[in-house]
Amino acid sequence: MALRYGIIGGGFITDFQLRALTNVRGVEVAGLMSRTPPRRAANFVREHGLGEGKIYRSITEMTHDVDVLALFGPNFTRLSATEEAAGAVRNGAALKGLIVEKPLARNLTEADRVLALADEIGAPTAYFENQIHMKSVRAALAQLAPTIDAMGPIALARAAEEHAGPHNAWFWDPTQQGGGVLSDMGCHSIALAWYALTPPGKPADFLVPVSVNAEVALLKWGRKRYREELRGRYGIDYGKSPAEDFATGIVTFENPDTKQRVKGQFTVSWMYDKQGLRLLLDALGPGYAMEANSLRSPLEVFIGDAAAAGVTDAELALEKSTASQGLLAVQPNEPDLYGYVDENVDAVRAFTAGRSALLDWHYGREIVRLTMAAYLSAEEGRTIDLTDPATNTRLADYVPLIQQGRGRELLGSYLD
Ligand SMILES: NC(=O)c1ccc[n+]([C@@H]2O[C@H](COP(=O)([O-])OP(=O)(O)OC[C@H]3O[C@@H](n4cnc5c(N)ncnc54)[C@H](O)[C@@H]3O)[C@@H](O)[C@H]2O)c1
Repeated sequence: MALRYGIIGGGFITDFQLRALTNVRGVEVAGLMSRTPPRRAANFVREHGLGEGKIYRSITEMTHDVDVLALFGPNFTRLSATEEAAGAVRNGAALKGLIVEKPLARNLTEADRVLALADEIGAPTAYFENQIHMKSVRAALAQLAPTIDAMGPIALARAAEEHAGPHNAWFWDPTQQGGGVLSDMGCHSIALAWYALTPPGKPADFLVPVSVNAEVALLKWGRKRYREELRGRYGIDYGKSPAEDFATGIVTFENPDTKQRVKGQFTVSWMYDKQGLRLLLDALGPGYAMEANSLRSPLEVFIGDAAAAGVTDAELALEKSTASQGLLAVQPNEPDLYGYVDENVDAVRAFTAGRSALLDWHYGREIVRLTMAAYLSAEEGRTIDLTDPATNTRLADYVPLIQQGRGRELLGSYLD
């Protein structure tokens, strides 16, 4: 029998996930719940024969009627949503799975509370990091597996995610979202680099993170002209409470068997004024390499100036598209390209077998720890030693200045 999903949140990622689910077997979308009734999503579900798509007024009510809760709401709703789900389970609801979009939480205190509630609920979990499920990444690593065996592991993985800035006000509010682009997208690139470095056949958390070094900056959206744009578009004041629009850093990992150290370099930005979203993975081992770039498509579309007047929806071409004319990068199946299809296939298979997905919520917590270490490194201008017990005690209740709304203390020099 198909697993019945109940989806919380009716925004951008829900739309993407529903498109992905049209390619997944063994699942139906039984329920949807959001702050305002998610009618667009419900219509999509029914039109595509994905399930009943019943709109619920509360998480509690929906939890009693579904097998799997998918937390696709904003970051600041993770804890309250998990609390409500745990309450429903205490009152007799039975769940077979819990899914959460990245990030698991905004900091480790919050992540630990979310995890404790998940343990209490007792259902298998899936942490949705779509990028490690990308078919291009999987194909490259499968192709390289015998080479890695013969020559030695990938020693450097560079992962990047960049676009021109998020689509909703809460992403820009560092207290609601958890920070700027490092909190929003650093989690993706850190996970992708870690995964690419992991020897074939080993679990996703096999390599031990030993240190993190990072920098954050505010290169575009702190300039007066763009601050005004943010204020006008989203009512956000980066003059008062800025967040970073650029972050980069290196996570060093150790192979627990061989003690070999390898490096994952991440770069994320909200100031990538090119065609649209770009995901990049570039990995190097002794004598071999791979590179995946999501902006390279076998498909090209050209719309000249004379024809451009008829084009209104740039996002038809690509997520976060910034142009609707000229030579466009067009991707025909973005939900598949970015790994959304395969992360659902993995979760549905795992939950049906009564186990957690490839990446569970404990893995999600580890990504929060690495992100927090990156913020701490940027704040203190030093490399964070993750093997030091005192550092881990510090990280356990650390809330980055930017997340506290005190970003001026770190990024003030970027404001003109
Ligand atoms: N994997 C990815 O690449 C990816 C991409 C985008 C977003 N995300 C993640 O997905 C989550 C949602 O992001 P989004 O882009 O869909 O945001 P969004 O702003 O587009 O949509 C958020 C939705 O949640 C609803 N909502 C707001 N407050 C709520 C509440 N208290 N209870 C229930 N629903 C509420 C809103 O009405 C809206 O429907 C975030 O955690 C984000 O980090 C992941």
